[in-house]
Amino acid sequence: MNSIHHDAEYFPDPETYDPERFSEESRNYNPTAFMPFGEGPRICIAQRMGRINSKLAIIKILQNFNVEVMSRSEIEFENSGIALMPKHGVRVRLSKKVPKLP
Ligand code: HEM
Repeated sequence: MNSIHHDAEYFPDPETYDPERFSEESRNYNPTAFMPFGEGPRICIAQRMGRINSKLAIIKILQNFNVEVMSRSEIEFENSGIALMPKHGVRVRLSKKVPKLP
């Protein structure tokens, strides 16, 4: 899956971080080639749970913390696993957001 998701035939300019490619208006990839949860009879049984949990985790972190990326060099990716993972992790600094007074 990692190889398909990085194939320029299906995802133009695959190494560029371009979240807009997933928006309805500017979609530029072949949707049948996008299968983060697999496909067919062995497709992930918890696709919805996976999506909801991931979104909630991101929402909660961004609601409560300022996030600063501390890694200085370009991030290298591991290409042996199912999920896309940074080879040496990514160092971030989290600082608690101060709640605004009403
Ligand atoms: C963002 C989170 C997740 C991602 C990206 C993900 C991705 C995947 C992928 C790529 C497969 C392999 C499909 C294939 O073999 O073609 C899979 C299978 C599976 N996933 Fe997930 N998954 C996620 C979350 C979960 C969660 C939360 C659970 C359980 C609570 C789960 C349970 C399973 C099971 C049981 C299978 C095997 C299905 C089978 O072989 O019949 N997954 N998942």
